[in-house]
Amino acid sequence: MQKILFFSSNKNKIKEIKNKLKNYNIKIITIKKNKEVSFPTESGLSFNENASIKSNFGFKIYKIPCFADDSGICISALKNMPGIASKKFLKSFKTESEGLQYILDITKKKMDFDAYFYSSIAFTINNTKTIFFNGIVKGLISQKPLGLGGFGYDPIFIPRGKKNTFAEMTIEEKNNISHRSIAINKFINYLTKTASPL
Ligand code: IMP
Repeated sequence: MQKILFFSSNKNKIKEIKNKLKNYNIKIITIKKNKEVSFPTESGLSFNENASIKSNFGFKIYKIPCFADDSGICISALKNMPGIASKKFLKSFKTESEGLQYILDITKKKMDFDAYFYSSIAFTINNTKTIFFNGIVKGLISQKPLGLGGFGYDPIFIPRGKKNTFAEMTIEEKNNISHRSIAINKFINYLTKTASPL
């Protein structure tokens, strides 16, 4: 069985990714955010750069093939921000709901509800090789926060062609269409269909 490390401390991402990979002959090892594992600064200027900073870091510490995801939401009314700063952006408010409300107010004021989620998966196979898989899901910012599932921006994002926010969907429903899922599907395809990189 292929053993690969998913370098992330985000338990929601871990849950989504384990759910996607459960039917494959791939063992996913995860890390726990504790004092023994430091995290690199995500100093890149793109999703790909930040994802590879994390996957390279994980590979160097654990010495096994390692992948990492960097993702975020780009909102038209905010000039496609917060993008790679999505985590920081929500943290800059007293509560996450205040951050979401700020977005709802600005999109209504500008009457521009377009947004998309982007995910980059970087897979570091060895010291010299890192490859990327990307996924994008376009949609709209909702009129109000809806749903209790998911995390982050899920309560205010309605994927194109759907009526519900990501937070109103089951993990399987979100996993059928999400940005991370699209990227992961490409990754699984690579792991299972091409010559084994391990
Ligand atoms: P990262 O861990 O630096 O990639 O941070 C990504 C941030 O983007 C997360 O903390 C969330 O705020 C947001 N984000 C990424 N993917 C999703 C998603 O699927 N749903 C909701 N928010 C997401």
